[in-house]
Order: sequence, then C-alpha cells, then structure tokens
Amino acid sequence: MIVLVGFMGAGKSTVGRLLADRLGLPFVDTDLVVEDRERRSIPEIFATDGEQAFRDLEQEVVADVVAGPEAVVSLGGGACGREATRAVLRAHTVVHLDVSFEQAKARTAGDTYRPMLQRPDLAQLHASRRVVFEELADLSVRTDGRRAEAIALEVLDGV
Ligand code: S3P
Repeated sequence: MIVLVGFMGAGKSTVGRLLADRLGLPFVDTDLVVEDRERRSIPEIFATDGEQAFRDLEQEVVADVVAGPEAVVSLGGGACGREATRAVLRAHTVVHLDVSFEQAKARTAGDTYRPMLQRPDLAQLHASRRVVFEELADLSVRTDGRRAEAIALEVLDGV
C-alpha cells in the first residue's frame, strides 16, 4: 500500500490519482470513504458530532482501507494524529507530501469545506503535524512550487 500523508493543501488527492494511474492501482481517498459510510459531508460531521467523532470514524476507515486490496491511499491531513493509526501505517509505504505553511494557506484560501482551516492555531498545527509526518514517512517529497506530475514522478522513483 502506498499511503500519502501531508497537511491540507499538500496535493495528496491530485498526486494520488496520478500515482494510481501510473501504477494501475485503485485510488482511495479516506475522506471520501468516511463521507460515503456516513452519508454526510465532513463539515456536517464536524458541526453535528464534533471533531473527535470525526477522528473516530477516520481511524476506523484508515485501518479498514489499509487492510484492504492494494491501492494508492490518500489520508486526511489530521489522520496521523493518533498513535493507533500511526501503528497501522508503519506496515506500509508512507509518503509525506511536504508543503510549507505559506503554500498550504495559499492553496486552501477561501475554502469553506475544511473545518480545520478555521483554527486560530493553524500554523502551530502545521508545525507539529509536520514532525509527525516526517517521523512516519519512508519518503518525503517537497511540493512547494512544483507540478503534481513532477511530484508523482519523484514518488515513483523513490518507492
Ligand atoms: C483535516 C483534513 C481534511 C479532512 C478534514 C480534517 C485535518 O483532509 O480530513 O477536513 O484535520 O487536517 P485533507 O487533508 O484532504 O484536506
């Protein structure tokens, strides 16, 4: 399993689709699996049940997806926050799409779909998550100012 991790706006879905195409594997976005299972959107889940309820669903979905058929998998930006999830991911090829805070902010500007973007401590969240992503990743690829195709090729070279 190739698992893409990284902050919101890193390009996980775009790069993931390119990789899956190149490798002839299915692409799975765990955010979409959560929404499919719940039959409601992530902002609805956050608004109705709160972040921790979303994290519970996310943890279950990540564990199920990585235990399933071989695929390229993109995780939500906060999915590596729990040790239980990190433990599950250690058996797989984890790729960190490393995006600077400035670039992530620029790429997600005006986005009202991601509840976490409203957090006042977003820069701190980016910094602390980055440490976790780097610790977990088998490969880390810089994404700032680069096209998705170039990033995908670097991943293919490195995995
Ligand atoms: C989140 C990132 C989102 C989604 C949810 C929470 C986060 O995924 O899982 O809105 O905590 O960073 P993307 O990283 O794909 O935007």
